[in-house]
Amino acid sequence: MTTALITGASRGIGAHAARRLAADGVTVLAGCRTPSAATGLDHPGIHPIALDVTDDASVAAAVKHVQETFGALDVVVNNAAIVGTTTPPDEAGAEDLREAYETNVFGPVRVTRAFLPLLRRGEHPRLVLVSSSLGSFTDMADWRWANHPHLPYTSSKAALNMVGVMYAKTMPDVLVTVVNPGFTATDLNDHQGTQTLDEGTDALVAAVLDTTGPSGRFVEREGERAW
Ligand SMILES: NC(=O)c1ccc[n+]([C@@H]2O[C@H](COP(=O)([O-])OP(=O)(O)OC[C@H]3O[C@@H](n4cnc5c(N)ncnc54)[C@H](OP(=O)(O)O)[C@@H]3O)[C@@H](O)[C@H]2O)c1
Repeated sequence: MTTALITGASRGIGAHAARRLAADGVTVLAGCRTPSAATGLDHPGIHPIALDVTDDASVAAAVKHVQETFGALDVVVNNAAIVGTTTPPDEAGAEDLREAYETNVFGPVRVTRAFLPLLRRGEHPRLVLVSSSLGSFTDMADWRWANHPHLPYTSSKAALNMVGVMYAKTMPDVLVTVVNPGFTATDLNDHQGTQTLDEGTDALVAAVLDTTGPSGRFVEREGERAW
């Protein structure tokens, strides 16, 4: 029996991954800022838990709850993210970046460190970081995404990619996978994404279920991709 925590599971990709994994027999701990407001999580295998990734006390309370209620955790999926401000790069200030980094970079670091001891008690500890092609130096240096010049989001996802690389290099006992869902219709992009939720969760679901690795890959539904 696999137990997986997903942050930002109240809607979008996180909620859909929770539904797919629960249907596959995974016990899903669906981290939500406001569990009572989450919809579409009514499956016996999904257990909504209160978790705000920007809040130390919320994360600590979630660790305690998971420890006391479930006793084990095999996978942590850091999925929660915000777009942040879309101020042009030459006008964006530290406050713009700080807001996005608080959720997209510091959040996953905060959640990962807090849950690692519980994760490491299991046989196949797995860590999934949900990133984006907008955090890829290969893609962005080519400027294939000229309509997404959002400094807070793109740079936060690039930073998250390096967090994933460093975790993979330094924690050989944890299988680390960085996932690009692909452009998927969710609230994040006002449902302009061209992929369905099924397509947008393929790589995430595969990463959660993978116990062999190798660790330290950046993957999408078509396979491994360039950083
Ligand atoms: N959709 C795409 O095209 C696309 C493409 C590439 C990468 N991604 C990545 O995929 C992931 C999921 O995106 P999505 O499209 O599903 O976005 P979404 O529909 O906007 O959902 C974002 C989720 O993150 C949660 N969240 C935000 N701040 C949080 C916090 N401080 N603590 C806990 N949860 C928080 C939201 O919770 P609330 O309901 O409480 O706000 C919501 O559940 C993100 O990492 C995103 O960067 C998405």
